[in-house]
Amino acid sequence: MGVSASAPAKLILCGEHAVVYGRPAIALPLDGVRAVATVEPAPAGMELQILAPDLGAAWFVSGLPDHPLSELTMATLRYLDLGLPQLTITLRAQIPVASGMGSGAAIATALVRALASYAGRTLTPAEQANLVYGSERRFHGTPSGIDSTVVAYERAIWFQRRDPTPLIEPITIGQPLRLLVGDTGIRSATHLPVGAVRKKWQADPARYEAIFDAIGALALQVRAALAAGAASELGMLLNENQRLLVELGVSSPELERLIAAANGAGALGAKLSGAGWGGVMLALVTAEQAPDVAAALRAAGAVRLLETMTPA
Ligand code: PMV
Repeated sequence: MGVSASAPAKLILCGEHAVVYGRPAIALPLDGVRAVATVEPAPAGMELQILAPDLGAAWFVSGLPDHPLSELTMATLRYLDLGLPQLTITLRAQIPVASGMGSGAAIATALVRALASYAGRTLTPAEQANLVYGSERRFHGTPSGIDSTVVAYERAIWFQRRDPTPLIEPITIGQPLRLLVGDTGIRSATHLPVGAVRKKWQADPARYEAIFDAIGALALQVRAALAAGAASELGMLLNENQRLLVELGVSSPELERLIAAANGAGALGAKLSGAGWGGVMLALVTAEQAPDVAAALRAAGAVRLLETMTPA
């Protein structure tokens, strides 16, 4: 019998990039947008294989052992003491890849959850996040761990990278807030802007440390505004975070066109979300503002739009 498990996409509300350098950041799960993994016995005579129809990919784990998802599969099987079972793992996701919505972490977490469920085990969010983070670390250089954490915990979190374990705290949200997420349609792999920021930081550490400090200070204010349900204040803080992301050099003309359109149509604030250079932006709106802002985002070229509420 097959088993399935899913994991959500995510948004970073405040603090991307600075979080790689130890500053706090805030992330939210996107419950309605999920990756699903199904694990079932392989057809007779077939060995362990992974099918990813949305990516047009299918492979035997033994044939592509260095593939990130092959490695994660093997690491998870080892962790679960499952040996090398003959399984077919099917991965599906509604989440566009390389768009800042955490598709990689969602697919990886769904895979870990489905294998655990196949083994009759339930892994804690920390165990899931550790397995996925280990895999991200091998393939993406210097991930902060915020993606794997928010996806595994499936709740709004305050995240700060620390040794040996990160600080992870649930965030209080005084009043659910409405977000519109606009996708530029431009795919940009996380490690590219992350690498570019690293080069700039190495060349001029004082300047970039100051920007990271300013973003970290904003994260504190964003946390307080969320707790108080202070939507207008939060909007201004998101705009300020975007200004600092522009200074880091991770925005793009397409992101800025969407952000300007949202603000021009009355949004309380807007910023890119995730690594930048493409992918998605988010706009904070009231229920009344949402239709106008959505129309403005479409007119400005958003290839897809999503409306979501922060968890209460
Ligand atoms: O995976 P993305 O594109 O949502 O970016 C993650 C956020 C960064 O701060 C840019 C990178 C990281 O590892 O935290």
